[in-house]
Amino acid sequence: YHQAMKCIVVVMAMGAEASPVLTALGARSVTGHTRFPFLYFEAERHGCRVIITVNGRDRRHGVDSIGTEPAAINTYAAIERFSPDLVISAGTAGGWQRSGAEVGDVYLSDRHFVFHDRRIGIAEFAPYGIGSYAAAPVDSLATALGVKTGIVTTGNSLDESAEDRAMIEASGASVKDMEAASVAYVCEAMQVPMFAVKAITDLVDHHTATADQFNANLALASRRLAEVVVKVVDFCAIRQVRDLG
Ligand code: ADE
Repeated sequence: YHQAMKCIVVVMAMGAEASPVLTALGARSVTGHTRFPFLYFEAERHGCRVIITVNGRDRRHGVDSIGTEPAAINTYAAIERFSPDLVISAGTAGGWQRSGAEVGDVYLSDRHFVFHDRRIGIAEFAPYGIGSYAAAPVDSLATALGVKTGIVTTGNSLDESAEDRAMIEASGASVKDMEAASVAYVCEAMQVPMFAVKAITDLVDHHTATADQFNANLALASRRLAEVVVKVVDFCAIRQVRDLG
């Protein structure tokens, strides 16, 4: 008996990234979190409940709560509240010209998620710092949608230090964000399958500063992200997680 998934949670960090996704899915706002600024939106696609949660604005600094702590806590709270069959980390990311990335490309996560800014020079802790959190196999989904796949690496800085660069070269990652590995860490512990959908705003190995590329391309990449997230959600809604690989 083939039981399609009942609920998908999409975790997003920035309002500007989420806005076209919410419009495209026809999502409505539902009650937020009492203690954290997390926002929740709900849609229905092919009989599947789709929750889009946005990390929300930091109450002290008034900007979007990007980075790993809000992503992890929001993911935990959303799994407890909605018991999803699948979690998707969706947002923007950096890519590399050397990997063939172009601004506006959308990637699905491959293999596993790692961190590139958790350097721990004590033998037994080094692999813990890097991490390795499962990405649900999505090769069939990527082929059906005609999108790229790559290892996603997470850190809490927008730029790439020389130390980050060495870690990223060693991990073979081709997508750089600020949340996915922490979402994956929580999903692995909670035994909820998870993958990421990431649209490229900037090329890390381009001479233009990352922040300038990011600001110039955020709106374009968010529109591309929304197109793909809708296709991903509609593909998943009528299937089981094991059908995505
Ligand atoms: N989000 C968008 N571009 C990014 C980058 N270069 N690094 C981390 N997160 C990003």
